[in-house]
Formats: sequence, structure tokens, C-alpha cells
Amino acid sequence: MCGIVGYIGNKQALPILLQGLRDLEYRGYDSAGVAVLDNGKITRYREVGKVDMLAKKIGTKSMPGNIGIAHTRWATHGGVTEFNAHPHLVGQNPPVGKGVLSVVHNGIIENYRELKKKLKDQNFESETDTEILAKWIYERYDGNLAKAVREALLDVRGTYGLVVMHADHPHQLIAARLGSPLVIGISDGEYYIASDVTPMLPYTKQVTFLDDGEVASINGDGLKIVNLRDEIVSKPVTQIDWDQERAQKAGFEHFMLKEIFDQPTVFEDAVRGRLNMAEGTAVLGGLNMSPEQMREVKRIIIIAEGTARHAGLVAKYAFERLANLPTEVDFSSEFRYRDPIVDKHTLVFVISQSGETADTLMAAREAKRKGAVVRGIVNVIGSTIARETKAGTYIHAGPELAVASTKAYTNMIAVLLLYALQFGRLKHTSLATGQRLLQALLEIPEKMNVVLKQNDSIKKVAGRYKDYHDILFIGRGVNYPVALEGALKSEEITYLHAEGLAGGSLKHGPLALVSKDVPVVAILPKDQLYEKMKSSIAEVRARGARTLVIATAGDDEAKEIADDIIYVPDTMELLEPLLYTIPLQLFAYHMAVALGRDVDRPRNLAKSVTVE
Ligand code: G6P
Repeated sequence: MCGIVGYIGNKQALPILLQGLRDLEYRGYDSAGVAVLDNGKITRYREVGKVDMLAKKIGTKSMPGNIGIAHTRWATHGGVTEFNAHPHLVGQNPPVGKGVLSVVHNGIIENYRELKKKLKDQNFESETDTEILAKWIYERYDGNLAKAVREALLDVRGTYGLVVMHADHPHQLIAARLGSPLVIGISDGEYYIASDVTPMLPYTKQVTFLDDGEVASINGDGLKIVNLRDEIVSKPVTQIDWDQERAQKAGFEHFMLKEIFDQPTVFEDAVRGRLNMAEGTAVLGGLNMSPEQMREVKRIIIIAEGTARHAGLVAKYAFERLANLPTEVDFSSEFRYRDPIVDKHTLVFVISQSGETADTLMAAREAKRKGAVVRGIVNVIGSTIARETKAGTYIHAGPELAVASTKAYTNMIAVLLLYALQFGRLKHTSLATGQRLLQALLEIPEKMNVVLKQNDSIKKVAGRYKDYHDILFIGRGVNYPVALEGALKSEEITYLHAEGLAGGSLKHGPLALVSKDVPVVAILPKDQLYEKMKSSIAEVRARGARTLVIATAGDDEAKEIADDIIYVPDTMELLEPLLYTIPLQLFAYHMAVALGRDVDRPRNLAKSVTVE
């Protein structure tokens, strides 16, 4: 959500900035803008809608300059209007005239009303907190831009990732961060700033991640990073090994479809080097705990949002069954505001694809403050949660650009299963069970391919469901979270109302919704809850609901109780979600395409929700 791009160097800034905004489109936004400085003058354009609309507005107008900033905005303070879009441009210095200091900002300035009252200049162009911040910086400016930014930020309460440019400083950009990510890419006298590494990958792989409370000054002499007290901070330069190629669609119509098809390959990346077949266990160094310390863990809490939380719900079954550890799964946004009972025997797993979800980050901090052992399970390398939880594990799903998460989910489950096994093998899970699970994991990619090969028939099935207004998904046991995830995928990208339910809970309320107008998708693996699930399916069919059943290959009985059927290869019960979720991802995808939805960037949603 909200994307920042900045550039300073010897190339023309505008094309780099616009391309950078396009690379960040997946984060979700509703307006975009760009400002370029040349010859002591800042030129700025903003537009509501997509980056292409902004590019169209600029058209062939000349916007030269080797330094600039740009932004995609996701409205928080103030509606979606051109005036509220960034960059904000404030100040009036003769002879330059109006607009000398320009700011792009992600995050929220919580005390902006307080600051607003104290500003000398009471003329406002927008309803945003960012304009207030820009003016606050401008009113502190005495010729030293870095100092003005630092001093202004000392008065700010809230969160920010921001970049500032001033007409009097043609060779300087100032970037600062508190709670909203910023990365600086370094390449031979050129610097790129962005909310994540994607926009800089074509130009450089050398990056520095800003941490909270740091202010970077980038100018002709190089990069200087200080804290808010103006003390120099020395920062490592990290080499990023993702390439832009991998982030492209690889011939698929949408990122989401590509990412669904990526699953067998990236699944191997998640487990590679992490299996110890001889001992029937996993090797995940990221935990940074000795076997003795691991045995001291008495409870597990998993905190996450959205799809990541569903992966956590699957893992609950594994931690309880394999490791005998009571496991609780909560929304990050709930966890941080309740009074969670944690102590040094509580291991908290914080799961996040982006590693930037504000609620999840805050919940992790809260758990740490209360003395729990906190570990991250994250996809984006160098992201805030990854860095703050230090120890923890990357899921190695590669860049996931579609808002609706797919491959990150399966890889989160893979890593969590490995953790559950690692804990289990220190307690009561037998060598034989451990080895069986590892063997089953190794067979998953091939079985995923078997499911993916049914893409065309799933597309046909999806066509039969797209015109309903409501769809229910039911599952039991380890496939209850699969029902939740199936419903989430569908509602995120089709905008149809979808709900995931535990099969057994149907008759306690939701059955009242079922009719011939409300179809049901049922997950029916041949496992210990098979007969129970069949009863749930009978309940909905008796009310006239069309039923799509996802069943285990070879289960002919399932055909008899289904209007439509998709078969999935057999696997160990704890691993079923790795396979049973895939037809639901494809089902949602094809319904959304048939309905003409913006599949990769569904309305109102953002890939990375960096505000509360
Ligand atoms: C947003 C996205 C979801 C995602 C959730 C958690 O709501 O739209 O797709 O599952 O955030 O994101 P994270 O990056 O923390 O996994």
C-alpha cells in the first residue's frame, strides 16, 4: 500500500520514476504523482487512478531533470482526489515562486491536527497529514535540508517513510523512516529510493535498508545516514539476488496465475536443505534455539493476517498433533490490543508474506515486550519483520506480486510443518512418522503439478459458479482453514460474497443461508473426517444447493454426491491443505477473469497493508 520512488543521478529521472511506480502497483493505490527538479524549479503532476493515467496526463510535456520523487497513494486521510495525491509541494521562495519543497510520504502523522494549528502558513491545498508535515519541515528550513527534516521529525508522532526534495538543493534527497519501509539502491553515483526493492532491480542489486529513526541524506558526495540526534549510523550494503525476470509474468495472463503455477517450484525452494531424512526431522537454523531451549517451549501462538493467518491455522493442527504443543492462532490486529498471556515459555510465530504488515509488526513488538520468544516467518528478504525478529525463517517463495496471496501461503505451510516436525521429534513423534512426513513432503511438488494440469477443467467448473451472489466453502479438521482460504481467495478477486465454514458448524446457523441460490464448495479428502464431511454435504444438498466437491483421487463415491468434482492426489492428512487449496485458488481466479475483474489488483485491497 502506498509506494514511494526517488531517483538522483545522471539519467533523466521521469522515466525511472514512472517505471518505478508501475513496479510498485501491486501494493495497491488509488492515485499517483511525480515531481522532478530542474534548474531550481520543481515540476509536479498528479492524477487520480492508475500510473498510466498519470503518464497520459504528462504526455509529451517536457519534464527534464536528474532528480525526482514519485508516489502511489492509498487514501487514508482525505478522499481520493488530485489535491490529496502526493508529491505535496509547499513553500514560496522568491525568485522561484510557489512550490520549493516537495514530499512523498507513507504512513500516518497522528498529531497532524496539533501541528496544523501551529503552522504559520494556514493555506492548505489538501486534507492530508502529509501536507502538514511538508509545511512543518519547510518552516524549519534555514538552508540545511537534512537538519530541517530531522528537527521536524522530532515533533512528529506517528509513522512515516518519506522522501524530501528542495528546489535549492538540486543534488540532494532526504529520506527518513519510522514504521514504513524504505530501501536505498546504490549504483555508481546513482541512488534509487523505494518502498521495496522491486523498482531498483533493473539498475542495481546493492541496497541499504533504512531502519526506524534513521534519516538518509543522499547527494553528490554519497550517502550519509544519521539518527534523529544527528549521530552517524553505519549501515551494511546488502546484495539482493532476486532478478526482475522472476518478478515478471513469464507468459501468464496475470501474476496470480503465474504465482499459482510457481507453487511446485518454490515449494522445493522452501524445503531444500531443510530436511534430515536419516533423523526424520527438519533442520531450520532460523529458530536459534538449542534442543534444551526448544523443549522449554510450552505453548505456541501464531499471529498473522489474511492468508498468512490461514497458513497459521493449518499449522495449529501440526503443532498439536506432532509436537503436543497447545497452539493458538490470532489476528495480529486483535492480539496487539488484547491482553495476551505470554511468557518466556511461549513461542510466538509472526507470519507475513510482505514482512511489512503494520498490525503484524506491532503485534510482534508487543509479544517481545511481554517476554515471549518471537520468530518471523517471512517472504520478503530484509523486510521489517524479518529484520526485527532477527532469528526466523524465510519461506523463499520469490516475489509475489498479485494482491491475492497463493504461493506464499503454501510455502508458509511448508515451513511451519517443518517447525512442527522439528519440535515433534524432540518430544514424542517417532522416527518413522518423521520420515513418512518428509517423504510425503518431497512428493508434494509432483502432486501439485497433477492438480495444476486440471486448470482447464477447473476453468469450466468456475464458469458454472461465477453468476451466483454467495458461495459457501466447507471443510473440517486441517481442511477447515482451507475452506477459509478458498472463501478469502474468492471474495478478494471476484467480489462475490464468500464464507468459509467448519462443516460441523453448518447446522448451528449458516444452514439457514443455504438454498438453490447459494452453492457450496466442500473439501472432502479421504481422511478421518470423511464420513462427517459427507453428512455436511448431504445437509446442503437436501436444501437444493449446487455442490462442488474437492475429493481424493479414486473416490468414486464422492462423484455421487457432487454436481461438480475436482480430484486431488492422496497425501498425509497434515499435508492435505498444500494440495486442496490449489483448486480453490484456480476456481477463484477463473471466476474473477470471467467476471472481468482486475485480478492482480482487486478494488479496495492492498498487497502490503502498512497502516493500521
Ligand atoms: C493484506 C493482503 C492479504 C494478505 C494480508 C497479510 O490484507 O491483501 O492478501 O494475506 O495483507 O499480508 P502479509 O504480507 O503480512 O502476509
